[in-house]
Formats: sequence, structure tokens, C-alpha cells
Amino acid sequence: MVFVSQYVTQRDARWFERPAEFDPWRWTAGFADALPRHAFFPYGGGMRHCVGYAVATAELRLALVACARRFRPTLPEGSPLAAWARNLGRPPAGVRLRLEAA
Ligand code: HEM
Repeated sequence: MVFVSQYVTQRDARWFERPAEFDPWRWTAGFADALPRHAFFPYGGGMRHCVGYAVATAELRLALVACARRFRPTLPEGSPLAAWARNLGRPPAGVRLRLEAA
């Protein structure tokens, strides 16, 4: 029996820069595509795999929407996001939003 730990693999600095840091911005399409197979495998992999993957993914999106609806995001003064919107490129990383209860 071979056990492979998501906790250990997904905190390996060979695949994830600053692995202990919560950094959603690392997940660009290019980053995900360049990862070796099974460097990130929250739903398992190989012969065994989570059968609820699609349900879980849809549920997570719905939960995010339900949470987001409770807040109104506003741009802090001087945010670079306003300049980005005019240029229509990719949003710069590290843009901060202020959340106020809706
Ligand atoms: C974020 C949510 C979820 C995560 C991260 C997750 C992750 C996993 C993982 C790691 C396994 C073990 C795969 C293996 O044996 O190596 C598994 C198995 C399984 N999951 Fe999930 N799961 C999630 C949600 C769900 C949901 C919503 C359902 C049902 C609707 C579900 C149903 C199952 C079932 C039935 C198995 C056993 C499959 C088998 O033994 O062949 N999971 N899941």
C-alpha cells in the first residue's frame, strides 16, 4: 500500500513558490498547466479519484457566490485596478479591495 500526502506534496517548494503562503494569484492558467501531474491533487488521482469532483467544484463556486453577495467590494483610494480597467490587460497581482457588509 502506498500513501501519497496532499499536505506534503502541495507544500513542496519545487512546485509551489513560498508554499506556506496563501496566494490565490499563483493559480494562473499557465501555472496550472506547467505543474507536473499530481503535484496538486486535492481530489486524488490515478486509479482512485473522488467521484464527487464535479459536484464539489460546483458547490464551491456556489458557496463563493453566496459569500460574495453579502459584501460590497470597493477600491481603496489610488488602487492600480482603475488604471488596469482602462488598459484592458490582465489585472495586476496584489490588488486589494475593501469589503463592506452589503
Ligand atoms: C472539496 C470537496 C472534496 C474533496 C477535496 C474531495 C476529495 C476526495 C479524495 C482525496 C478522495 C479519495 C480518492 C482516493 O481514494 O485516493 C475522495 C473520494 C471520494 N469522494 Fe470526494 N472530495 C470532495 C467532495 C466530494 C463530494 C461533494 C462527493 C459526493 C457528492 C464526494 C464523493 C466521493 C466518493 C464517493 C469517494 C470515494 C471514491 C472511491 O473510493 O472510488 N466527494 N474525495
